[in-house]
Amino acid sequence: MPRLFTALEIPPEIAQSLAMLRGGLPGARWVEPENYHLTLRFIGDVDGAVAHDVASILAGVARAPFDMRLDGLSSFGGRKPRAVVASVVQTPALYELQSEHERLMQRIGLAPEGRKYTPHVTLARLRDSSSRQVADYLAARQPYRSMPFRASRFVLFSSRASVGGGPYVLEAAYALRS
Ligand code: 2AM
Repeated sequence: MPRLFTALEIPPEIAQSLAMLRGGLPGARWVEPENYHLTLRFIGDVDGAVAHDVASILAGVARAPFDMRLDGLSSFGGRKPRAVVASVVQTPALYELQSEHERLMQRIGLAPEGRKYTPHVTLARLRDSSSRQVADYLAARQPYRSMPFRASRFVLFSSRASVGGGPYVLEAAYALRS
């Protein structure tokens, strides 16, 4: 069963600036720069028929390209930090694209995503980093702000079933067009 998610890709020059942030945090497993992405809708493990429905309904999305920017570093998990992430500036275009993916997945019968959408690019997954180590890392690396970049397509990625993590396989790409 493929594990699927929709995403926006991170252009190489932005990935390069994020890659400069790797290192200096004990307990971190750093994401390979070619695997950086912004998840729009995590779909999870589905069978081939559902995967087919997902891929075909996404083809109906008709939206214009838009500009994005990463701004700020933070961690998820609070006192038990589990990830270091770059935050993505939430814009109406990003919100609308993500909301449309959510609506489409519900239309083909998938359960609603219960968690609030927080756009981010995961830089590292953490095993045994303390909140103090994470705070020190973040203080040393801030401020981080990327150049603006254009989202001109979104993609459907798969990862190894039930395992997650990269490398991801590009299953389909969908152009954003004005
Ligand atoms: P993350 O980077 O913040 O871990 C592929 O697993 C992508 O889907 C990852 O970017 C991951 O986010 C995201 N994702 C969202 N919800 C997930 C879940 N419940 N399990 C695994 N990955 C999830």
